[in-house]
Amino acid sequence: MVDLPDASRRRLVAGLSGIVLVAGSAGAALAAKKEPKAPPPPPEKKVGAIEELMRQHGVLRRVLLVYRQSAAQLRGGGKLDPKLLRQAAQLFRDFGENFHERMLEQAYVFPTLRKAESPAAALDNTLVTQHDRGREITEYIRTVTGKGTTGDAEVMARALESYVVMYANHAAREDTIVFPAWREALADKQLREMGETFEDIRNRQFGKDGFEAAVKTVAAVEEALGYADLAQFTAPTPPRG
Ligand SMILES: [Fe+2]
Ligand SMILES: [Fe+2]
Repeated sequence: MVDLPDASRRRLVAGLSGIVLVAGSAGAALAAKKEPKAPPPPPEKKVGAIEELMRQHGVLRRVLLVYRQSAAQLRGGGKLDPKLLRQAAQLFRDFGENFHERMLEQAYVFPTLRKAESPAAALDNTLVTQHDRGREITEYIRTVTGKGTTGDAEVMARALESYVVMYANHAAREDTIVFPAWREALADKQLREMGETFEDIRNRQFGKDGFEAAVKTVAAVEEALGYADLAQFTAPTPPRG
């Protein structure tokens, strides 16, 4: 063994630990290099303009089912928490009447149909009249329930049912006549741009998860009223013919 003076031994030890450190970090770098790269996040799935409009109808239909079931409960002399009915009406006002009808349909869909002289434009006047009538019914529900009551059971039940029947017909025409005609009137690129425009408006209005939030709101009302379990609506076996 070579007998080194103290200073030389210290230099040698320091040098060796340096080599170990360098080798260690080089090894770590190598190991890091070998790690499989995380796959890039999948591109965000875009919701097209037509799907956007139709899934909004889905939320509104769920509110209307709450109305229909609430009307039956009122007619049957059952109790109904006015706060829940008010929440449902507020969702219809914000998501349906202000956003879906005024900011999308009346601002983009109907004007395009008129400009393109589409036969579907013949429905526009009636559709807008129905949007306005819907607002009046919503106002009535909000005013009565704002007083902490559901008011006269028969009058409220009739108001709720009238909205249900009107909007079921209204949305079914839009889904099958108006939206397909609008799609026809637009070029592919314009339709894609409309999808982005609708998304921007929704984000501005309700934040990034506006659709999910609307679904959550209606689901919470359904839950509180005992309508959350879908299975309860499975029809009974029909009588043998
Ligand atoms: Fe509409
Ligand atoms: Fe609509």
